[in-house]
Amino acid sequence: MAGVATDLAAARAAAPGDGGVVVAGFPGNDGVELVKEMASRYLRSRFFLAVEDVALADTALWRQMAARGIVLVSINNTAVEVAAALKEAGFREAPAPLPPARAGEKPGSCPDERVKVSIAFWSTRGGVGKTALAVSLAALLALRGRKIRGDYRVALVDADADGGNLSYWLGCPNPRVTLPAWLDLPEGSVGWDTVREYLLRHEASGLYFLPRSARATDEEYITAGLMEKVHAGLSSYFDTVIYDLGTAIRKENNYTPYLLSTVDTILVVARPDLPTVQSIKNDLDELVPRWGLDPGRLRLVLNRRARGAGYKLGDIARHMGIPLLLPGLPEDIHVDRAADRGAPVVLAYPGCDFSREAGLLLANLMGREFADAGDRKRPWEYVAGLFRHRAAAV
Ligand SMILES: Nc1ncnc2c1ncn2[C@@H]1O[C@H](COP(=O)(O)OP(=O)(O)OP(=O)(O)O)[C@@H](O)[C@H]1O
Ligand SMILES: [Mg+2]
Repeated sequence: MAGVATDLAAARAAAPGDGGVVVAGFPGNDGVELVKEMASRYLRSRFFLAVEDVALADTALWRQMAARGIVLVSINNTAVEVAAALKEAGFREAPAPLPPARAGEKPGSCPDERVKVSIAFWSTRGGVGKTALAVSLAALLALRGRKIRGDYRVALVDADADGGNLSYWLGCPNPRVTLPAWLDLPEGSVGWDTVREYLLRHEASGLYFLPRSARATDEEYITAGLMEKVHAGLSSYFDTVIYDLGTAIRKENNYTPYLLSTVDTILVVARPDLPTVQSIKNDLDELVPRWGLDPGRLRLVLNRRARGAGYKLGDIARHMGIPLLLPGLPEDIHVDRAADRGAPVVLAYPGCDFSREAGLLLANLMGREFADAGDRKRPWEYVAGLFRHRAAAV
């Protein structure tokens, strides 16, 4: 701890130094304004705002804070929640700068001291938007990661062996390599040149990806052993590896529990309607203990939020017992349009509601350095939204 301030003037004067952790706990609007001001000043610090429990359910406040990468915690349990958030994957203590490329470093290598992150998109329900989200976040991350560091690399794996369609979403219906090809990859540590041969590259975003085989019979080759090989190969060369998993409910396979217990963060995707939420909750209550998954690695992502729906996303998260990753993503026609064009929606329609919220989600997941000014709505768009809303109600 660098210091404690007990009044606003002292808090403003107590410069935390960029890169630290700041917990603001002033009551009411003073705390909100203070933390906003500090967050805009210290771009590399991690901010928490401790609020009364009732304010935790205030989605408007939550959104406002999430847009700035500020995490809300309960004032009654601040120390524990902050410590947990700092420890868990996805809330890394120092999201700050990736180390600069060093002279003499081979462009193909990805040195071990760099923080490697692995993420799984999962849901026990089909059609909730796992693939739409995985493709969007992976493409954005690849683009923005390379702005931060020229050789930042992201890999996206279609780990839905029995129904995955990732390659269509990336405009590559007949992929040259697919997941079973990794069976032929030499054992042991292999060089970047070899690994790259077993992947495809999405040129527009710079994302590397690995589609599933289009042959249904190849599904039997996708085992935990194969996934272990894939994960070992990718995590030595990629800063972030993302898996788009299937539901694995009808046919239980052994690689789903393997991947879920291996990755740093599991993003559980759901639609915010009661039947979907309840059925996913029931499945998780059974599968999380059975597969020995660490519940602390789960984050809830709510997709296809309808305009004017009468629920609070925070209430859904509390009901499911999984921390919510904000923001929830809106229902947006551009998602389907982009899929039809075979392009990630964040590239095809970067200004649409879904893309902007996906940008915010990425920053909340990976750290504020991955945010972009275009992620936020301009003030007049909120006003226009109000009129649209009223027009729809009439
Ligand atoms: N926010 C959204 N707004 C509008 N349409 C969406 C949204 N998210 C997903 N969709 C559409 O819903 C359909 C299912 O999405 P997607 O394929 O990503 O789900 P999934 O969970 O990966 O499904 P599966 O279990 O079959 O793999 C697609 O047609 C997609 O375009
Ligand atoms: Mg899918």
